[in-house]
Formats: sequence, structure tokens, C-alpha cells
Amino acid sequence: MPKSPAVPSKVSLNGAILDASEATVPVFDRGFLFGDGIYEVIARINGRFFYEELHWDRLKDCLRKIDIALDVESLRAEVPALLEASGLEERDCLLYIQVTRGVAPRQHSFPKGISPTVLMYAWAKTLPRIPEAPAHTLTREDFRWSRCDIKTTSLLGNVMANETAMQNDCYETLFVRNGVITEASHCNVFFVVGDTVYTYPADRYILNGITRLVVLELCEQLGITVIEQGIPAAEIPQTHEAFLTGTSTQITAIDRIDAHRYGAAPGPVTRRLQEAFARRKEGTS
Ligand code: PDD
Repeated sequence: MPKSPAVPSKVSLNGAILDASEATVPVFDRGFLFGDGIYEVIARINGRFFYEELHWDRLKDCLRKIDIALDVESLRAEVPALLEASGLEERDCLLYIQVTRGVAPRQHSFPKGISPTVLMYAWAKTLPRIPEAPAHTLTREDFRWSRCDIKTTSLLGNVMANETAMQNDCYETLFVRNGVITEASHCNVFFVVGDTVYTYPADRYILNGITRLVVLELCEQLGITVIEQGIPAAEIPQTHEAFLTGTSTQITAIDRIDAHRYGAAPGPVTRRLQEAFARRKEGTS
């Protein structure tokens, strides 16, 4: 397996394929000034983008929510050329799409008549069939804004929370809002109590992850009851299993939240879902 390069060698910037080292964005780009943009990440697994349609739909939806007009279908048509230029036609990768409102003299409100800045790049990445190492996690107050449903490039709250995790030898920080676990810095969070799966509902306090939606679909297929309700942080010790979901995290069991340790991670329900998810990726169920 060839080693992944440190950074992708090619990018697509506003429709032009360029060497990454030569691609630049103007200093008055609103992505730089305000974090005024949207992004999306799609995994290519076994030669196809996994749940591609849902990712493109979420991108369209988020752009609409912040009033950026972009022809996303034309953007999609540029992906094969990017993969070819990146030497990734035959390899698994993560496709990143970043769209900002564009370049304009500084003003907070949306400037009129500017075009979005669009960056895409693909990063060679082979995801494991099942992530075997369970994740240590901790909890912190959710200090982010209350539009976490928008997949914005303004990620400072998430970045700070993830740094806290790293400094504490953890993979993730689970956010607590109004006493309840919402999501994590770059993942959604699920709990298992008995045979029932719990996850926070898709309101404005979480990103409605595509992997989250796949897990909900798999639960239905496997006859596992799901309750879209957050688990209070104080009740974590009463839960039997917990796991994280995300495009590159896939379904990763949690073995520790703060001082609470789960006896076996993955537990049986998490393992069933991991196996079903792996079959989905392989296109066998
Ligand atoms: N993170 N919640 C947050 C805050 C996220 O940033 C992500 C994704 C998710 C899971 O969404 P999905 O299943 O669609 O990947 C939930 C991406 C992968 C990232 O920031 O790179």
C-alpha cells in the first residue's frame, strides 16, 4: 500500500486543477476573515463514494441555510478530473469540499454580487473495515453556538474541544448542553441501554451526520429500537455501551467517558452495527 502524502499534491480551486503548493486564496476571502463558509467530507470506499447523494444534499442544504448560491451539480462534475490529477482513480480517499462566500471588502453582512470560492481536494485514505481500537473520551460543556446543524468552516469551538481531548490522551470530547450529551467535536454520539439505542435528536445543537443516518437505517434493518433522545451526562454510568460515528471515524466503540469505563468495548450491539456497517461498505447488504 503506497504511503499517503502529507498533503494532497493537487487541488481544484474555482474549477482549475492546480498544484496544492501554488493554489492561493485572496486575503479578503470571507472564509479567512469570518469563517463564512461550508464544508463537506465524503469517503470513497471500494471505488465508490459512500452515501454520496446524502453528502451532496447536505452541502446544498447548508449553502441554502447561509444563502450562498452555488451550482453544486457542476461542482460534482469536476470530481473525476480531480481524482485523476491526484492519482486517486483507483484508491480509497476522502474528498473535501470547502465553499466560502467569496472575496469582498470587510463588512459583516453578506456582500452582494460576489462569487463563492470553491476548493476541493482528495486525500488518499483507506479506512479500516472496522475500527478496532476503542476511543477514550471526556465530557465538556458545549460552548459552541446554537446552529450546529450547519456544517460551517467556523470550527473554533470544535477545534478547541478536540485539543482538550488530545491533551488528555482522548480521541474525542463529548459536548454537554443543558446537562445532556449532544455530539462530539467531529462525531455524533450513541448510547446503548439494554437493547435500545439512544442518540441526540437532529435539532440545531448537532450536525445530522450522514454516518448517524446510516446507523439509524441499520438499526431499523436489524430490528434494533432507537430513541432519538439525549442521554443526561449524569446517567452515563447507567448506560451499557457507547459509540461514535463519523465519515472517517465510522462506528468506533467508546471504552471510557471521563471516569466511567465500559466493561467490554465494543459491546454486542455496537459490534452488530459495526459488522452491518462493514457489509454496507462492501455493498453486500
Ligand atoms: N466531521 N458532528 C460534527 C460536529 C462533525 O464535524 C461531524 C463530521 C459529524 C459526523 O458527520 P458525518 O457522519 O456526516 O461525517 C458530527 C467531519 C468528518 C470532519 O470534520 O472532518
